[in-house]
Amino acid sequence: MATKDTLTVTDNRTGKTYELAVKDGCIRTADLRQIKVDEKDFGLMGYDPAFLNTANCRSAITFIDGDKGILEYRGYPIEQLAEKSSFLEVAYLLLNGELPTKQEIDEFTYIITHHTYVHENIKSFMDGFRYDAHPMSMLASTVAALSSFYPDAKNIKDRTTRRIQMMRLIAKMPTIAAFSYRHSMGLPYVYPDNELSYVGNYLAMIRKIGTATYKPNPILERALDVLFILHADHEQNCSTTATRIVGSSQVDPYSAVTAGITALYGPLHGGANEAVLRMLREIGHVSRVPEFIKQVKSGEGEKKLMGFGHRVYKSYDPRAKVIKQQADKVFEVTGKNPLLDIATELERIALQDDYFVKRKLYPNVDFYSGLIYEAMGFPAEMFPVLFAIPRTVGWVAQWEEMVLDEEQKIARPRQVYTGHPRRDYAPMEKRTSGARP
Ligand code: CMC
Repeated sequence: MATKDTLTVTDNRTGKTYELAVKDGCIRTADLRQIKVDEKDFGLMGYDPAFLNTANCRSAITFIDGDKGILEYRGYPIEQLAEKSSFLEVAYLLLNGELPTKQEIDEFTYIITHHTYVHENIKSFMDGFRYDAHPMSMLASTVAALSSFYPDAKNIKDRTTRRIQMMRLIAKMPTIAAFSYRHSMGLPYVYPDNELSYVGNYLAMIRKIGTATYKPNPILERALDVLFILHADHEQNCSTTATRIVGSSQVDPYSAVTAGITALYGPLHGGANEAVLRMLREIGHVSRVPEFIKQVKSGEGEKKLMGFGHRVYKSYDPRAKVIKQQADKVFEVTGKNPLLDIATELERIALQDDYFVKRKLYPNVDFYSGLIYEAMGFPAEMFPVLFAIPRTVGWVAQWEEMVLDEEQKIARPRQVYTGHPRRDYAPMEKRTSGARP
C-alpha cells in the first residue's frame, strides 16, 4: 500500500472526511479548525491540559527519550558530558550548538568571569528582604529587578544586546544566589573572585569569611560542576516553558527568566530536592521506611514519594545515575550523610513495589542531589537555588531559540469555557449569596 504523510479524519457529526498533514510525528492542531459542523462553528480544537501531548516548539537544543532514559545536549550524551566536560563548556555548547575550541572557551570564560559583579544598588535592594526570606524568592525578585538596571535589554531582536544580557544572566546568577544565602545567614556579602572557576567562585561567595582568599576543595568543586552540567537544560519542562511563554510577549530576558525561576520554585519541579530532604528527615529512620511507603500508596495525607516520578522519564532518570556516583565521591570528603541510608532503603523498596513499578516511578534528578548539597553544608532552602544557577543556561538558550523562531508568536492558548451562559446584571437586592472561589 502506498503510504502518505497524512492523517485522514472522519467527522462522524457530519460524515465529512479531512486529510491533515503529518510532519515530524505531529499534526498541526490549527489544521483541526477546518473541521466544523456548520459555517458558524468555531472549528475543532485540541484539549490538552498540562500539555501532555502537545509540542509547543521545534527545538535543536536538548533531546530526551523518556522510555530509554536518554538525555543529550546538542546530540552529546549527558553521561559523556558529565564525565569529560566542564559546566562552562556545556553552557557554551547549549548556547552555540557546538563544543568550543580552546580559544572560544577562553573567550567565553573571560566574558562570564567579567560579568559576575552586580550593581552596588543590588546589595541595598537585597537588604530590604526579611531576615527569613526564602533564598529562591530573593533570587526571583532580584533577577526581575535586574531588568531595571539594563533598560536596553528590551532590544531583544539585536543580537549583540541579546547576547550580552544572556552572558550577564549566567554570570550574575551565582552572585545573586550567594548574596541571598549570605542575607539569610546574616553574613556580609562576598564579592566575586576572578581567579576562581565559575563553581569555585560561587563556593567562595558562600563560604568565605575572615580570609582574603578561599580555595575550594577540588573534589567538591568538581562534584558541583558535574551537578551543574546535569541541571543545565531539560527541554520543555515547566520552568523553561514558563520562560518561553513569558518571553513570547517580547519582554526582556530578565523578566522572562524570572518566570522560569518562580516556576522552578514549586515542589513538583525544582523545589523537589528541598522536599526530598524534608521527607527524609520526617521519616527519620530506616525502620520507618515501610510505613512511609504504605502511606504514599494509600494516598494518606496526599503523600508522595518526593524525588520519584517524572512526566517524561518512564525509566531511571539518567541524571540520577550520575548523581549517585558523585555522591560517593563527595561523601568521601564530607563523611556520609546519615539520611543516605533512608534514601537507599526507600529506593530499594520502591523499585520492587508493584505500585511504583506499574506507574513507572523511578528516582529523578532531585532524589539524591539534596543529600550532596546537604553534605556540602547548604541548607535545604538553597537547594532549588542550586538548581536555578545552571538552569539559567537552558532558559536563556531556549529563550533565544524562541526569539529567533519565525513560527513563534505571543503564546496564547485557547480554553473550553465552562462558566455561566450570558445573563443580565442583577441589582444588589436581588442577589443571593452563593459565590464560590
Ligand atoms: N509518589 C507517589 N505516587 C506518584 C508519584 C510520587 N512521586 N509521582 C507520580 N505518582 C503517581 C500519581 O499519583 C499517579 O497515580 P494514579 O495513576 O494512581 O493517579 C501516577 O503516578 C501518574 O502520576 P502523574 O501525577 O499523572 O504524573 P505527572 O507526569 O503529572 O507528574 C511529577 C510528574 C514529577 C510531577 C510527579 O511524578 C511528582 O509529583 N513527583 C514528585 C515530585 C518530584 O520529584 N518532582 C521533581 C521532578 S524531576 C526534576 C524537575 O524536572 O523539576
